Amino acid sequence: MQLIKHLSEMRNYIRRIEKEKSIGFVPTMGYLHEGHLSLIKRARQDCDEVVVSIFVNPTQFGAGEDYHLYPRDLSRDIKLCKQESLDVVFVPSREEMYPDGYSTFVKVEGELSSTLEGSSRPGHFQGVCTILTKLFNIISPDFSYFGQKDYQQVLVVKRLVRDLNLRTQIVVLPTIREKDGLAVSSRNSYLNKEERCAATVLYESLEKAKQLIMEGKRDPALVASKMKDLIKAKSLAEIDYVAVVDPETLQKVERIGKEVLVAVVVKIGEIRLIDNLKIA
Ligand code: PAF
Repeated sequence: MQLIKHLSEMRNYIRRIEKEKSIGFVPTMGYLHEGHLSLIKRARQDCDEVVVSIFVNPTQFGAGEDYHLYPRDLSRDIKLCKQESLDVVFVPSREEMYPDGYSTFVKVEGELSSTLEGSSRPGHFQGVCTILTKLFNIISPDFSYFGQKDYQQVLVVKRLVRDLNLRTQIVVLPTIREKDGLAVSSRNSYLNKEERCAATVLYESLEKAKQLIMEGKRDPALVASKMKDLIKAKSLAEIDYVAVVDPETLQKVERIGKEVLVAVVVKIGEIRLIDNLKIA
């Protein structure tokens, strides 16, 4: 496995292999977990060479968010990548990705990126789209792998790729969950014992929504309000949003039809956790 730290070295590597080999790409911010590993495993099945990037991208964090505290452990990540027989781990520096005077950003306009996470975290998707455009340019992947946990990110990235005619294909894999349903996430490592216990409420609320919808409830306000009641019962939990939306447009639905996306964001103590379930 190669550890590549410089853009020029990464480009040279890609230039050498791209004519003969298919390239799979798993973009990450490190602190790898089972979710990332499932993406890496799938990429290894699909592609001749797999590149994982590890870069905690400052432009997707707002002021007062957890950029500086975001968990980082490069030696642990490298060990995990070696175990997965990865070809390349790309760990660029902040200075190379955003040199002094950096002033170019990529934004997917419109409701897809301004609703939900876009409204709670203004500027977040612009940061995500900017870093991914740069990484797609450098790595030129045939396939890029994302998890369903960041449902809105996937939709925004698909739109970015379509609108800018980027050559990569986006592959989306299911959310990986702990035994009690909590979606795996690097941020789970922040949770103390009590918070970890309370964090199961996100999945419980999604399951509640599923149960209500399966029973035939069609009113999104009723489903959201039952979910909120359940979350509010946990003293450590503070709701950011609960949304019952169209899975393609992410806009509110008047009535629950064939398919609906239920999305939930809750702060457990200081830790903001996100989850969703597509219910058909
Ligand atoms: O999902 C993430 O970890 C990040 O948003 C990504 C895609 C690596 C971009 O920094």
